[in-house]
Parts: sequence; structure tokens; C-alpha cells
Amino acid sequence: MANRKIDLLGLASFSHGQPHDQFRWLRANDPVYWHEEPDGCGFWAVTRHQDVCTVSRDPQYSSYAGGIAINDMDPDGLAASRNMMLFMDPPQHTRYRMLVSQQFIPRSARALRSRIEELARRIVDRVIDRGECDLVSQIAGELPSYVIAELMGIPLEDGRVLYEWTEKMHSSSEAVPETDKRAASMQMLNYALAVAQEKRQKPADDLATRLLNSEIDGDRLTPAEYTFFFLLLVNAGGDTTRNLLAGGMLALFENPDQLGQLRSDLDRLLPVAVEEMLRYVSPVVYMRRTATCDTVLGGKRVGAGDKVVMYYGSANRDEQVFAEPDKFDVARAPNEHIAFGGGGTHFCLGAHLARIEIQVMLREILTRLPDIAAAGPVEWLPSNFISGPRHLPVRFSAGGAARA
Ligand code: HEM
Repeated sequence: MANRKIDLLGLASFSHGQPHDQFRWLRANDPVYWHEEPDGCGFWAVTRHQDVCTVSRDPQYSSYAGGIAINDMDPDGLAASRNMMLFMDPPQHTRYRMLVSQQFIPRSARALRSRIEELARRIVDRVIDRGECDLVSQIAGELPSYVIAELMGIPLEDGRVLYEWTEKMHSSSEAVPETDKRAASMQMLNYALAVAQEKRQKPADDLATRLLNSEIDGDRLTPAEYTFFFLLLVNAGGDTTRNLLAGGMLALFENPDQLGQLRSDLDRLLPVAVEEMLRYVSPVVYMRRTATCDTVLGGKRVGAGDKVVMYYGSANRDEQVFAEPDKFDVARAPNEHIAFGGGGTHFCLGAHLARIEIQVMLREILTRLPDIAAAGPVEWLPSNFISGPRHLPVRFSAGGAARA
């Protein structure tokens, strides 16, 4: 078969965002593609919407067996990570997820809205008189780190430190050495232990205290279960939400007609535009599963033990599901994107919360910094796992709306 150069591992493919030209070719020519791996046994790259949903929902594809990253972990690392529900299969997964799911249902997320609005106001207050800033680190990254700190019941400023560790952990080992990545996880786990000690002495109405008091089958969580739960909640909601906000703003800058349309009918279009940003940006590039038995996917024979990798950014540009998939359309409806997962048991726990954070922050930016514009080249994150701008310089009239 005539094959173009496909490389979904090397950072060069992600230096300008996700490799949509490769994804387009794969969807059209080889949607369940066997991808060689220089340091591994290879994997199936799944690029169509329908196949990604199948893998997400079918219990024969396991998160427990080999974890969620393409690179196989060493046995100790994998065993430790299995303390997190992201690395579990049902029924074990269901028991862990139930411990915290109540905190993330729409009602609980909505109850946080006014506090999130206050935090977003504070973030814009800090930059508004400067007339310029880095949208990624000084606006988009601030809110998710504050919100998770708020939920966990830790100081807001600690949320920023946790988020720096998250970023290291999610970088490719080409960009951040494995030793530094491991050090960042250790710092996060030690921090979680220190929080546990504090919450035992001073219990409060927060997620950290709730985790400490949780029971699985009549037993409290072990220290490892508690610390990895903490790490998952911090890791999952930080750079994903930040990348969506920054990537979404970049899409607006690059499509001024869409920015104009959104501004002209902000109340009606904001939630619709957020869904389009989720589709278009797709901050999580992939999740891996491992086949637990011989099976067939998209006409290919998948063997027991094979790695199966779901490319959400590709599924979200599938021309069989989305008209003009490469067009950024703030009024797109319906929009069956799967940026939060393809609907299986691991579907993003924080989806409602993330949507509120994104809507609130975008409204704050668009109303208080009405002439905000890109002011320099975008630098992309060095990662084949999480996608988004690493730096996005912006400028706006100092003082914002009042003087704009
Ligand atoms: C734009 C923002 C976000 C995106 C794009 C996103 C995306 C995802 C994706 C793709 C998954 C895996 C789905 C699967 O394997 O089927 C996931 C899982 C998860 N997300 Fe999010 N997420 C976001 C924000 C958040 C936030 C704010 C939180 C909460 C603090 C959160 C918590 C989680 C958790 C705990 C899981 C694991 C769920 C499980 O294993 O059952 N996420 N997310």
C-alpha cells in the first residue's frame, strides 16, 4: 500500500499542534493503522470516530492491563499507577469512581460557578493594567490550578505549583528527562501526604478530607490509593483545561470572523462555541488501551495484548461525522465531539466542571479585554500526549474595557 510518512510519536509531528494531515490520510486510507515503535512492540493507531467510540466502550479493551500511555511502564511504575482509577477496569473502577463522582455531577459543578467567576475576575485583574501577557501561563493556566486547589481545600498558590509538576509529568521524555518526570510525581505524592496529615488534624468540607474518609469495601483508602487519587484529580484537570482555553483563544484569533460572530451574540453562542473549541482543539491527543483477547477492529485482526491507541483529535475531525471538519465554526450544531472520551467508563469525570471553567474564563476575557489579540508567535507544547500552545503572547488596551 502506498504509505505517506506517518509518525505519531516524534515531537516534530506535534511542533505546530496535532498532525492533522497525517490523521486525514490515516482516516481515509488505513484507519486502524499498525504503527511501529522504535523502543517498543508497536501499536494500533485508531483514527476514526466510530472506532474510537468502540474501543472506549468495549470492555475487552483494558486500561488496567498496560496503562494509558503508549510507552510501556516498568512493572513497579505500572503497579503503583494502578492505584488510580484511570488505570482500573470495572468493577474495581466503578467502586473508586463512585467515591468522588458526586462532587462532579452538574449540580455540584454549577454550585461552584460564582466562586469560579470570582477567581476568573481576579486573574484578569492581575494582568489588565499591563496591556500584554502570556495568555497560557498568566490567564489560561491560572484558573484550573486555582479551581482544583479550591476543591481539594489547599492554598490557591499551591495549586500553581501542582500544575507546574503536572506539566513536567505530561511532557514527552524527549523534552523532559524521565528522572525529572519521576521527581515531579514524587513531589506531588509527597505534597498529597502532607495534605493528608493536615486534613486529619483539621478535617474540612473538601475533596481531600472526603478522600481520606472514604471506604472501599469497608476499608479506608491506603496511603498509596489516597495519594494517587489526589495526583489523578490534579493531573487530569490542569493542563487539559488550560490548553483548551489557550487553544480556543488561538482559534478565535486565527478566525476573526468567528470571533466577531461570537462577540455579537455572546450569551447564546458561548456554550456552543466551547463545544466547538473542545472538538477543534482536543487537548488530550490520545488514550491507550490493551486488547485482552483476539478481536477485530475496523477490519484488522487485533491480537490479545496489543496496544490500541485512540486519537481523539483525529476522531473529532472525522469527515463522516462532521461537515467541513477543519473549519472552526462557533455555531456548529450538532457537535458530537469526543474530546472528553468516547463515552466509556472512563469518560471525563470533570467534563461539567471544565465546561463551566472555560465558559466563565472566556466571558471574562472577551468582555474585559475586548481588543485582545495575538502579539507574537505561538510555541506548542513538546508532547505527543497533551496538545496546546505552550506560550501565546497577547496584547490588549491597558485597563481593558473601561479604556478600550
Ligand atoms: C478541557 C478539559 C478536559 C479535557 C479535554 C479532558 C479530557 C479527558 C479525557 C479524554 C479523559 C479519558 C477518557 C477515557 O479514557 O475514556 C479524561 C478522564 C478524566 N478526567 Fe478529564 N478532561 C478535562 C478536564 C478535567 C477536569 C477539570 C477534571 C477534574 C478535576 C478532570 C478529571 C478527569 C478524571 C478524574 C478522569 C479519569 C476518569 C476515570 O478514569 O473514570 N478532567 N478527561
